[in-house]
Amino acid sequence: MASNLTKLISYAPPSPHGGNLIERVLPEEEAQAYTHLPAIVLSARSYADLELIATGVYSPLDGFMGQADYRSVVEHMRLQNGLPWSLPITLGIRADEAKALQGKVRLVWQGRNVGLLQIEEKYIPDRHKEALEVYRTTDPAHPGVAALLQQGEVNLAGPVWLFGLSRGAFPEHHYTPSETRGLFAQRGWQTVVGFQTRNPIHRAHEYLHKVALEQVDGLFLNPLVGSTKEDDIPASVRMQAYRVLLENYYPKERVLLGVYPAAMRYAGPREAILHAISRKNYGCTHFIVGRDHAGVGSYYGPYEAQEIFSAFRPEEIGIHILKFEHTYYCTRCASIVSPRTCPHPPLHHLVLSGTKVRTLLRQGAPLPSEFTRPEVAEVLRQAYQEVET
Ligand code: ADX
Repeated sequence: MASNLTKLISYAPPSPHGGNLIERVLPEEEAQAYTHLPAIVLSARSYADLELIATGVYSPLDGFMGQADYRSVVEHMRLQNGLPWSLPITLGIRADEAKALQGKVRLVWQGRNVGLLQIEEKYIPDRHKEALEVYRTTDPAHPGVAALLQQGEVNLAGPVWLFGLSRGAFPEHHYTPSETRGLFAQRGWQTVVGFQTRNPIHRAHEYLHKVALEQVDGLFLNPLVGSTKEDDIPASVRMQAYRVLLENYYPKERVLLGVYPAAMRYAGPREAILHAISRKNYGCTHFIVGRDHAGVGSYYGPYEAQEIFSAFRPEEIGIHILKFEHTYYCTRCASIVSPRTCPHPPLHHLVLSGTKVRTLLRQGAPLPSEFTRPEVAEVLRQAYQEVET
């Protein structure tokens, strides 16, 4: 008991970004008082942003960004008050729809009143400039740019509230930052490394976790489960794969599996910063950024998502970034290695791209055990078999 108490006292969670954890979740019943208001129907992506704002994952944002913050973020990667922030969090709707709206509006998702927006501003964003600065391309084949271009022409801005927290498709793994902060303290972790992923965990990912776990107390495995591009492996399959992997290969008391409900933007370097800040808000002290973090195709250099952090002083970001070079299996070393640890030439290296993995799965071919644990491979194989039959 005494030692538990000591542990509770010794966890000093990082200060939320900007100083305060935002909490704007109202009781679900309160939605009934606002049914008379005009409605805006949210996309899955905007609903995710609403939840992330209201539960404090996006602290210090308390609503969708106004024009001054939007411009400052696009141009300088900072909110107007100077705080680092890398991606615009905005609500775009059609101009004809925006015209009549003012004051409070209801936010509707999947037929339910899920929240409120107090409209304080309407403005026309420069999507071309936003794409160029944030995504470093205006190519509509880039999935993040494509989603950006699909948004309406007018951004509505102002504070939001969420009516009740629906814990989505994985309720037993769906936590708010105040909950994760409580769980880290309860477990006696003084240091916690956050891990973002949109893929099944392969051996290279596992290696990053385990190298980190040699130094920090806990791993917060925080897979993104919001919208992803069509050919990414669905979250439901990934969650099964994470569970079997954790059961078989990780010390239970040192890992927490919790979902990150955000949509994937594929903004590479800029998104790495948002990912790090979000994990700080969840209470992590460390965050892993490996090769081509949040990248897609060849839009970003393999280490640009690491290099971008040098635009800020470490204390401005407030979470330690654990940077890893490309890791892969080496047949000569018979282990996962990186260019920092392995002297052998590429012919000994097993490197599989996501596209290659998906091709193997579609063909029903086995995934090499040096690449994927057999339990994970089996979950993936079954999922692909179901889709193909
Ligand atoms: S991401 O879009 O969520 O970044 P992914 O799930 O593949 O994609 O990666 C999760 C994290 O692991 C990212 O930080 C990424 O840079 C890192 N990573 C993935 N594969 C490797 C690898 N082979 N070597 C080094 N880092 C990797």
